[in-house]
Amino acid sequence: MDVSDLRLRLSRAGQEHLLQFWDELDGAQQAELYAELQAMNFEELNVFFQKATAESSQASQQEKVDARMEPVPREVLGSATRDHGQLQAWESEGLFQISQSKVAVLLLAGGQGTRLGVAYPKGMYDVGLPSHKTLFQIQAERILKLQRLAEGRHGTKCTIPWYIMTSGRTMGSTEEFFTKHKYFGLRKESVVFFQQGMLPAMSFDGKVILEDKSKVSMAPDGNGGLYRALAAQGIVEDMERRGVGSVHVYCVDNILVRVADPRFIGFCVQKGADCGAKVVEKTNPTEPVGVVCRVDGVYQVVEYSEISLATAQKRSPDGRLLFNAGNIANHFFTVPFLRDVVSVYEPQLQHHVARKKIPCVDAQGRPVQPDKPNGVKMEKFVFDVFRFAKKFVVYEVLREDEFSPLKNADSQNGKDNPTTARHALLSLHHCWVLSAGGHFVDENGSRLPAIPRSAASGQPEAGTADVNDNLKDANDVPTQCEISPLVSYAGEGLERYVANREFHAPLIIDENGVHELVKNGV
Ligand code: UD1
Repeated sequence: MDVSDLRLRLSRAGQEHLLQFWDELDGAQQAELYAELQAMNFEELNVFFQKATAESSQASQQEKVDARMEPVPREVLGSATRDHGQLQAWESEGLFQISQSKVAVLLLAGGQGTRLGVAYPKGMYDVGLPSHKTLFQIQAERILKLQRLAEGRHGTKCTIPWYIMTSGRTMGSTEEFFTKHKYFGLRKESVVFFQQGMLPAMSFDGKVILEDKSKVSMAPDGNGGLYRALAAQGIVEDMERRGVGSVHVYCVDNILVRVADPRFIGFCVQKGADCGAKVVEKTNPTEPVGVVCRVDGVYQVVEYSEISLATAQKRSPDGRLLFNAGNIANHFFTVPFLRDVVSVYEPQLQHHVARKKIPCVDAQGRPVQPDKPNGVKMEKFVFDVFRFAKKFVVYEVLREDEFSPLKNADSQNGKDNPTTARHALLSLHHCWVLSAGGHFVDENGSRLPAIPRSAASGQPEAGTADVNDNLKDANDVPTQCEISPLVSYAGEGLERYVANREFHAPLIIDENGVHELVKNGV
């Protein structure tokens, strides 16, 4: 260990405080800290910090962006509800692309799940479905099913490669989990793990924060760390080698996510887009979703933490929110677009700054749990590349069909928690059964009423009965009905299991058939 050289490097970068407890550390701690600091590029870090904090106060930043925002124009918008006549064509295009092994999916799973409060990766979470499947398993089975649907339609064997971005904190346990579960039936070669970068937390005056005497406070560099990781680990080359043409990028936490949704893929491909976003209508101004919009004529997402309340509350003449294209973190990119991003544009992406309460040590090395923000975390955002698109499109879907994120613990509040996620999936599957001609009966054998889904939904696959609208909060309990993704990807193909039949809940439909748990005394 050349400590004097390290000391010199740190002092040149104004970060010499990082060795202030050096003499108190034992050999192992010294070796660990030395290795951690040696691996850091402090010049680059200081530039990131200066650029990210250069814009003055957050409030004036918000006003500046707010004043320049425009809603998404109709001509770039496709809608699963309004463009009903085109869904079939988009779906066929998407299935064709998949059948040619030209579509990959990429999962952003490097987050720390701080709000959910679990020590393991969010994808390993079991929200308490009758089957107890985890988010990873649900997604894997949707991929498997889609491969089978595309193969069935086109008679060719195909693969949807699954790229999974993890971080230093989630890599080991994620890989172990997949190994333990035999990749949930997927081929090992078609699942590619890669790791995003980490950045240290910084004090407001640009000093790297120590978590304890021998450890820097590190966090993943945001889901926009994707692009640097793609470049560093040759992932775009891997896509090119496999002949992949386009990629569906999505977040780990949405239990309803339609991975590689053929309609979304087909829509983007037929529009000739290089970049696209799936959205749901934002109806509540304070909902924590970003909004897709244009700023100075280019597309971007203005994140929920970066929009002012006044702008979020603005309404159109029809009473809807003016900025209502709610980002559900489902993005489409062509591989040539990703190639340009990693080769040319990535360095232009700016870090966003979040003020946080960061556990640290005081001047004597004693641990401190701050009660107000004491520093910043710097993160890039995955959608910040939208502005480089030559042709950007937006695809709007129904929230109850496709979006129910898992962000919080049940104990925290009534939104976006394991209970709401579980209910959203059960309700959707209940709808699918009703749409396929099945019925539910109560313990006396009387049919339970189905509430007709609004005509606007127009989803041929997903149903004609909307039970979800009645389940606005976690306290309403839906009919227990779970359908394995291996049986149905989006509500299709259920008639042969349920048409003209009556069921008692809980009901599970999986590859082994139809199971009424109570009737069978389970
Ligand atoms: C995200 C979106 C927001 C959208 C919302 C919908 C971003 C920056 N924001 O917000 O616009 O409305 O989802 O649910 O995309 N992740 C990483 N590495 C990181 C940080 C996060 O891979 O360093 C992954 C997480 O594992 C997760 C996803 O990115 O899958 C979203 O992260 P999260 O922090 O939950 O984003 P939100 O703030 O909820």
